[in-house]
Amino acid sequence: MRIGILYICTGKYDIFWKDFYLSAEHYFFTEDSNVKREYYVFTDSKSLFGEKENKHIHRIYQENLGWPDNTLKRFHIFLSIKEQIMQETDYIFFCNANLIFKQSVNDEILPPTNGNGLVGTLHPGFFNKSIAEYTYERSPRSTAYIAKEEGKYYYAGGFSGGRTKEYIQLCETLKKQIDQDTQNKLIATWHDESHINRYFLDNPPSILSPAYLYPEGWSLPFEKKIMIRDKSKKEYGGHEYLRQKSSWLHRLLKRL
Ligand code: GAL
Repeated sequence: MRIGILYICTGKYDIFWKDFYLSAEHYFFTEDSNVKREYYVFTDSKSLFGEKENKHIHRIYQENLGWPDNTLKRFHIFLSIKEQIMQETDYIFFCNANLIFKQSVNDEILPPTNGNGLVGTLHPGFFNKSIAEYTYERSPRSTAYIAKEEGKYYYAGGFSGGRTKEYIQLCETLKKQIDQDTQNKLIATWHDESHINRYFLDNPPSILSPAYLYPEGWSLPFEKKIMIRDKSKKEYGGHEYLRQKSSWLHRLLKRL
């Protein structure tokens, strides 16, 4: 079985790559030695930790699109290597840059063979909230619109995946919808997350609990399988810093 990992780290987000990668090598689909992991890393970094030793790390040049396009345009970004992903993987999972595996994560996350092939993760901030509190896109002008009386779960953008063919189909549909919103000068409230919520409402995935997106420093009634590192922490530079376009000095340092 071949598992593809989609990972975007442009600009300053490459600070997260090394720990993410090492934790994945330790915990992500490591129980069965027949499983191959292919890492697709979209970045403007000139090199990545581990890439010389591991030929399964594919560095794909990706310009830093800035905020919020770095997140909103993720489906466009994945589709830039659509053929490669379709040839090289059976399943793909997108992982936010600031995730880190804390426990073994294996085929319990794969979608059932009789389902629609998709996997979504419940948002850690909303699993115990009422539907009225979900931060769906509420403008009927947006393609991500979910009406007040609709909806069931609130999914997080940080970890999703599925069978390659079906996940690519998701990417194609959401790319078109996001382009349509852009033409109409609309940006959905929570960017790609709003769009994936709309898609999952129409195409219900198999559901992972917030154990797979457990925010650092929170206390939740779940195991901590995948932790979301707190971007506001000084050691990572803080939100605003991470979102800035790289300075010439940072670009120069990355080249060394
Ligand atoms: C926040 C999270 C955002 C978005 C939002 C949805 O906690 O940081 O990325 O998911 O919830 O309301």
